[in-house]
Amino acid sequence: MATATIIDGKHYAARLRVGIATQVARLKAEHGITPGLAVVLVGEDPASQVYVRNKGSQTREVGMNSFEHRLPATATQAELLARVAELNRNPAVNGILVQLPLPKQIDPEAVIEAIAVRKDVDGFHPLNAGLLAVGGTGMVPCTPLGCLMLLKDRIGSLAGLRAVVLGRSNIVGKPMAALLLREHCTVTIAHSRTRDLADECRRADVLVAAVGKARMVKGDWIKPGATVIDVGINRVPTPDGKGRLVGDVDFESAVEVAGAITPVPGGVGPMTIACLLLNTLTAACRQHGIPAPEVRPSA
Ligand code: GUN
Repeated sequence: MATATIIDGKHYAARLRVGIATQVARLKAEHGITPGLAVVLVGEDPASQVYVRNKGSQTREVGMNSFEHRLPATATQAELLARVAELNRNPAVNGILVQLPLPKQIDPEAVIEAIAVRKDVDGFHPLNAGLLAVGGTGMVPCTPLGCLMLLKDRIGSLAGLRAVVLGRSNIVGKPMAALLLREHCTVTIAHSRTRDLADECRRADVLVAAVGKARMVKGDWIKPGATVIDVGINRVPTPDGKGRLVGDVDFESAVEVAGAITPVPGGVGPMTIACLLLNTLTAACRQHGIPAPEVRPSA
């Protein structure tokens, strides 16, 4: 059986960051503007701390300003909303990201809705979600945007392809489906209540798995030659007790059937932060009335 092409998201994201850094340098030289990204972390969730650290270092690497705000796990919703309001008013801050998940005393929807729409670089605000649904130019959530870039880099035009999105979250599944529709795919959203899930997946030319279930999608769920994007990041136990990361796709069987597939780690993950930086650059340009540049990955 043929073996799929491995889509190297880590390499693509690195090239994209070089392209972003070039545009950031231009923005500074021509307009005296340095884009700024504020990341707010509430509490001490270890995984969130790693993400926030990575976001900060990559933000600085592309030449942007990084502002880190930490609140204790006991912070109230009012305290977090006050911090968001302050960042909304700060002209040096072009993008605001409040790291999820939040402690249980805080309603994430209230926080997301408090972020200024033009600074919502996560694209989670209902107004940005609505703009994506009706084809407007808002902020597009980073993970689906990264998936789309990898797909277009691999396939070119997606017009007319059958796309199946596995998962219906507001963060990945729904915006991914909207983006694929915008690219003229025939889109199906499948989920935990879908009948004959494997059959639905087998019809897909493009399969995006974002359900958070380790190795759920088996090789025989995949149409031969299909392009498979694995958004899942699941830690599974190993004999040495350290555990390892696997996707929502059973890579070993899928790689024998798919035409191309993203690995975990090193596939979609690195694209998410690169797209966050891209959204911050876009937000900074829009806030200053400058056309957002077309960022290309470096050769
Ligand atoms: N937690 C895990 N991923 C994300 C993300 O993309 N944005 C935010 N705000 N929190 C997250």
